[in-house]
Amino acid sequence: MIAYLLSALAITWASLVALDRFLSIPHQLNEPPRILPKVPFIGHIIGMIQHGSNYYEILTKRSGLPIYTIYLPGSKIYVVTSPNLVTAIDRRSKTISFGPYVLSVDLLAEDLLEDDGPVGLRPETLKVMHESLAPGDDLQAITRVMLRRVAEHLEALHCREDAVVAGLFDWTRKFVTRASTDAIYGPSNNPFHKEDVYNALWTIDREFVLLGLNILPNILSPKGARGRRVFFEAMSKYYAAGHHKTASPLVQARHQVESKYGMPQKDMEHFNLSVSYGLLVNTVPSSAWVLYHVYSQPSLLSDVRQTIDSLVRIEGSTDVRVNLPDVIKAYPLLESLVQEVLRLHSTNASGRVVLRDTLIGDKYLLRKDAILLILSKGMHSNTEVWGPTASTFDPTRFLKQRAGRDPHRVPASAYRAWGSGASVCPGRYFATNEILSILIIMVLRYNVSPVRGEWKMPATKSHITTSILTPVTDIDVHIRPRKETSGIQWTFTWETE
Ligand code: HEM
Repeated sequence: MIAYLLSALAITWASLVALDRFLSIPHQLNEPPRILPKVPFIGHIIGMIQHGSNYYEILTKRSGLPIYTIYLPGSKIYVVTSPNLVTAIDRRSKTISFGPYVLSVDLLAEDLLEDDGPVGLRPETLKVMHESLAPGDDLQAITRVMLRRVAEHLEALHCREDAVVAGLFDWTRKFVTRASTDAIYGPSNNPFHKEDVYNALWTIDREFVLLGLNILPNILSPKGARGRRVFFEAMSKYYAAGHHKTASPLVQARHQVESKYGMPQKDMEHFNLSVSYGLLVNTVPSSAWVLYHVYSQPSLLSDVRQTIDSLVRIEGSTDVRVNLPDVIKAYPLLESLVQEVLRLHSTNASGRVVLRDTLIGDKYLLRKDAILLILSKGMHSNTEVWGPTASTFDPTRFLKQRAGRDPHRVPASAYRAWGSGASVCPGRYFATNEILSILIIMVLRYNVSPVRGEWKMPATKSHITTSILTPVTDIDVHIRPRKETSGIQWTFTWETE
């Protein structure tokens, strides 16, 4: 019996070795070193099933290489772990491109190498997204709408006498969804005012993997498929009523580009799923994580509170007007803190496709058609880059970096929370404005404490499209008005020079 099993094993092993030899794409000597799996041919797939996105971290630690290659049946992946190589890759964004990752519709067919410049539906849509979300009047306008909603929501909380008990992430999801979508789709006609649209988007998020397969969605993911229908119907009514004409500059500018390329109305409506999705899926958990980190560390909360209190001069006042950009400018720790929270929680895998054989770092040949991944988690936990405290939360880290006071000078390319280069996140300024607005108002007005008595870092589960993960089990919290500031009438504004 044992002899039989051993010979079966030997035959399987030999077949896998043969498959690896004959089916794997050839590897050239000057390509990034290849990491061989423990089991030939299918070993990396087994590793991915076993460890999820952590598999790359295991390989990165095992190899200690700045870039390496792994082979999967039929494809080749380069994994980049060195910030210097990221800079080299970003400089070659035409030949190592994000584009093919998001191309799925004929209308999006484009000159990927952009030999004629950034022309075409996708590059032009991205261009207007970057323009309307860059610092300036448009960003200021949508930030104001967002702030009004956030402030209103948090004001309503104050009218209650008892403490609010809520799941921190769920509670944040509700008001951040409302505030962000009001800012983008317009505060009067936002489709997300309907609860079923809100539920639809977050169901799609939960069911993303099954829906993404696009095989019998009604059977494999009935809830997700229904959510998608509800979302598309709501968008269809929104466009039919012409509400996009009074929406944010972002929605209007996208509509102009889409019309220029003759995009059918239905596709415009459908493409809003990616707009809403990108707008919300990372901003919601980021806002909640920032609250978690500040409220779970009494000394940090006390420092932040004292400084903000003194900046807005609450003592003896009954009416306080707070211009948030003034607070943010006067207290740079806040931005550093947010950057640090994103650094710790980011799990993004920036994907690229090599469109032409390309040499990077003067020595690594990247072959056409290979996939390239830059993994934020591995990059952010690299002690060679960030020093021995790479895995700990240090809200002052980026302050020290900026002032040159950190013994570890970290290159900008090592910070991956927003991606980088041509595919850097266009929503980064808006998201930062929103997260900081929530933090400042909460610290001024509310105490947050865990129902179970102590804060405990919750576990998360990796998600195929989301970088900042939501805990598997929410943290139940009490939210109570601060006694010191409870009689104050607050006005929050967003005025920049
Ligand atoms: C804390 C909040 C957010 C985080 C952490 C985040 C992170 C990211 C990351 C890591 C990427 C991929 C970059 C790459 O692959 O190199 C990305 C892309 C993108 N993000 Fe965000 N994002 C956030 C908020 C937003 C918001 C508010 C919007 C929209 C208003 C937005 C719209 C987009 C879009 C459209 C892309 C695709 C860019 C492209 O195709 O080149 N994001 N984001």
